[in-house]
Amino acid sequence: MLEPLPLTGWTGPFDDEIKARALSALESGQVLFFPNLAFGLSQSETRFLDARVSDGKAKNISLDPTTGKMQSSSLTGESAAQLAAMMERFGSQATGLVHALLPYTNVERARTSFRPVEVKGRRYSKISDDRLLHVDAFPSRPMRGRRILRFFANVSPASERRWQVGEPFEDFARAFLPRLRPHFGGKSWLYGKLGVTHGRRSPYDELMLSLHDAAKLDSEFQQNSPQSAVSFPPGSCWLVFTDMVLHAALGGEFALEQTFHLDVDELAEPDLAPIRVLERLSGRTLI
Ligand code: SIN
Ligand code: FE
Repeated sequence: MLEPLPLTGWTGPFDDEIKARALSALESGQVLFFPNLAFGLSQSETRFLDARVSDGKAKNISLDPTTGKMQSSSLTGESAAQLAAMMERFGSQATGLVHALLPYTNVERARTSFRPVEVKGRRYSKISDDRLLHVDAFPSRPMRGRRILRFFANVSPASERRWQVGEPFEDFARAFLPRLRPHFGGKSWLYGKLGVTHGRRSPYDELMLSLHDAAKLDSEFQQNSPQSAVSFPPGSCWLVFTDMVLHAALGGEFALEQTFHLDVDELAEPDLAPIRVLERLSGRTLI
């Protein structure tokens, strides 16, 4: 489940042996785990380790790297600017590491998030409850086959972040595909036109959303499908294709996360990508 890598710093150059291990583990659906890589907070930034920095509405505080705009924080003025600066520093260190470790030439840096609310106590509808096993797929963000890669740091001084990691994507897809309702193209077109989605959802996006929802709604699957508990201690980081690796966050308090998007043809093994697996299993072209 976890591929531990002994990095101690954010900037390369990294050994070729490490880079090769990272690439093949990541693309085959393992979680790259960096037990000795901590994201450091300054003394004054430790005040952000407090659930009250969230506005209490969204799960996460997010930073758009293209506009520098931060959303869903209760902070204002100088404090808000300092939190945004901390998130920006994390995002750029994570981006530097991804570039130094992996051979991809075109990785888009998407949003940065700060997750200051204890996972365990949250109350959400099943569909938005990330304590249930799922692959990532977002209703308003069509990926059209592009990959979702996420880099996480546990910045809690005391709590482990606890995940469950599920079975291989292909096993999961094989079990669920026959049960999904056929994709309804009219809705994707309408949502695209209305601006509900950023661009039009492809059949791939519809299928990934259906898989995400079907997994979360199936309590038999949640309880009995093959899965392992993993925990990420304070001061560690991890990197994972969350569109492929079934995951559930069961506990933990303070984490930072940087999302990346990339095309399937950047991959060393594109045939392992969800789009290719789903096209193979369904016998359809999905974008
Ligand atoms: C998720 O991506 O489902 C949540 C992960 C986390 O916050 O640890
Ligand atoms: Fe997720």
